[in-house]
Amino acid sequence: MKRRVRKAVFPVAGLGTRFLPATKANPKEMLTVVDKPLIQYGVEEAVAAGVDTLIFITGRTKNAIMDHFDKAYELEAELEARSKHDLLKLVQDIVPPRVSCVYIRQSEALGLGHAVLCASAVVGDEPFAILLADDLIDAPEGGALAQMIAHFQKFQCSILGVERVPPEETYKYGIVHPLPFAQNQKLSNVDSIVEKPKPAEAPSNLAVVGRYILTPRIFDLLAKTPRGAGNEIQLTDGIAKLLQEEQVLAYEFEGRRYDCGSKLGYLIANIEYGLKHEELGDDFRDYLESLGSKLSETHSSN
Ligand code: G1P
Repeated sequence: MKRRVRKAVFPVAGLGTRFLPATKANPKEMLTVVDKPLIQYGVEEAVAAGVDTLIFITGRTKNAIMDHFDKAYELEAELEARSKHDLLKLVQDIVPPRVSCVYIRQSEALGLGHAVLCASAVVGDEPFAILLADDLIDAPEGGALAQMIAHFQKFQCSILGVERVPPEETYKYGIVHPLPFAQNQKLSNVDSIVEKPKPAEAPSNLAVVGRYILTPRIFDLLAKTPRGAGNEIQLTDGIAKLLQEEQVLAYEFEGRRYDCGSKLGYLIANIEYGLKHEELGDDFRDYLESLGSKLSETHSSN
């Protein structure tokens, strides 16, 4: 029988030190791109891909995430009383009724692999997705995860979402060594994977960018994975063991990724999503155009 991906894990326990002081008391996943928190983009992508159980691996200072996906009685009553029906719908639709949220507390920050392992009892013996909310992906065909799930349905094996990165940036990512996969040019067989290699040691420039579909075998392997890079239990090291036992594919998804784990990537995402925004897009474009002319005047007078 073909297996389906019904559950998605969101590791959200990280400290977000790169965004301090913004993230001192607020989770980095609640930083907004225009008017929506990063984590909500990830949740919408998972729900659009057919996921019905969202598993958040949280930590201290992350209560705002639980509140965000919970029912907001007072706010809803207030919006109802003021006949703000559009806003009421927007608030109520954050998580559709068919979808459940589960929260698991990762009490020690032992790395991404450890965070994923915390989900094992809830995921059980099923394939599942992992989404890192820092990697915001604007993608057609229902989103990057939906594209990956379509391939999973066909091939029934683990699939990593990957993209080409500048060779000098391999040290920021899990990097795969791809071998050709006859049936589709966007897919490759993962022959090996290494966490954050220096450019000279990188097996390619194909980087894993925050979207994974994994078989449950990963849990047994993570449980035996010692601490690796950064003294943390690395998901990449678990995947390196998985691909010795099972087929693992890398998929170059259609779409654009924004690295919202970096300040520059986050600013770029705000600009691009601002330009596409239904209400603000036109005014924002006018503003940017006038700013562009001012900047080029200053540039030419210098
Ligand atoms: C994590 C993973 C890395 C992956 C990256 C994608 O690193 O460990 O393999 O390529 O996410 O964003 P982090 O960015 O948490 O350091």
